Amino acid sequence: MQFFSTLKKNLSAVKNYQPGKPIEEVEREYGLKNAIKMASNENAMGASPKALAAIRKNLSKIYRYPDGGCFYLRNRLSKILGVEGSQLVFGNGSDELLVLAVRAFVGESDEVIIADPTFLIYEIATQTESGHVVKVPMKNFHYDLTAMQAKINSRTKLIFIANPDNPVGTYVSKDQLAAFLKNVPSHVVVVLDEAYFEFAAAKKDYPDGIKFLSAYPNLLVTRTFSKAYGLAGLRVGYGVADPAMINSLNKVREPFNVNLLAQVAALAALDDTAHLKKSVKAVADGRAYLEKEFKRLKVRTIDTATNFILADLGVDAAPVYEKLLKSGVIVRPMGVWGLKTFIRVTIGKKAENERFIKNLNQILKGE
Ligand SMILES: Cc1ncc(COP(=O)(O)O)c(C=O)c1O
Repeated sequence: MQFFSTLKKNLSAVKNYQPGKPIEEVEREYGLKNAIKMASNENAMGASPKALAAIRKNLSKIYRYPDGGCFYLRNRLSKILGVEGSQLVFGNGSDELLVLAVRAFVGESDEVIIADPTFLIYEIATQTESGHVVKVPMKNFHYDLTAMQAKINSRTKLIFIANPDNPVGTYVSKDQLAAFLKNVPSHVVVVLDEAYFEFAAAKKDYPDGIKFLSAYPNLLVTRTFSKAYGLAGLRVGYGVADPAMINSLNKVREPFNVNLLAQVAALAALDDTAHLKKSVKAVADGRAYLEKEFKRLKVRTIDTATNFILADLGVDAAPVYEKLLKSGVIVRPMGVWGLKTFIRVTIGKKAENERFIKNLNQILKGE
């Protein structure tokens, strides 16, 4: 690929993040109507009605800069989570906080330990800062924390743990996390990415990262309003950590990084527990349906604690993905993660799940 000659040397190796295809693009390219997107782990139940009302109410204020300190959102969330306001940082999606953590703590040739496969942003953010990514293969689709710990050395600055992981869907248990954190030296930052926290929270042995913060000033827990709260399009997430860690992140944060509408919508969504419950239940029901149907189609799935399922089609998934696209169903092929026979499907509404299974069945049967 050609780059402008002034581009910083380390950036030529950085892969561009490939997001799931937008519905409009698929409809345009394939001449379709009613395409459905089950590709980006969004909330199929939509945004909270209370969040939508808050956005409408505040629309006329968008000529002003937002509150750079997210005062109301910070106050409300600190009460809900039982942490100090000074322990919170907000981001333009939790993505931004992952990038800021790397920007603040990782310099040239420093090492960042990640699982393989995992969320692609960890690698991209590290390369962008000229850091070195150390990938530790998963064991049977679960984090191999012993192997990750063995990779820690004096150059290690940061370890990413997505809990649950994306694109895999499995999680690190409370006991595993506790044992791991004990063995991480205090100079190494552990970022515990809990983007799917609300879906996994019902599992008995799933850890709430915030409970570990008092013992570990090197721990940063990130969460998002993009998934269970249905606000992916607004871009708002948060990080919780020791105030010293938060101060460090604030050094590299843009002053007005969370927009005004995102702040009021997130605040309203926090209090819409009915919508949250409905969303989590829809995911649990959809997961049970899809797992049953995948079994019937003899497609192996990986256990998931999230709103998506990683499925091994047992054949090259790229042509199946293309045919699903043509049928108006957008999923995610897993080739970029090196999982060529896998797709990742986001759990949709009942009718969407049924349409996906019907189309997949036809494609796999060669109809
Ligand atoms: C593991 C993980 N972390 C973080 C994110 C980022 O979410 P957002 O930036 O929308 O908060 C995602 C989104 O897909 C994810 O899967």
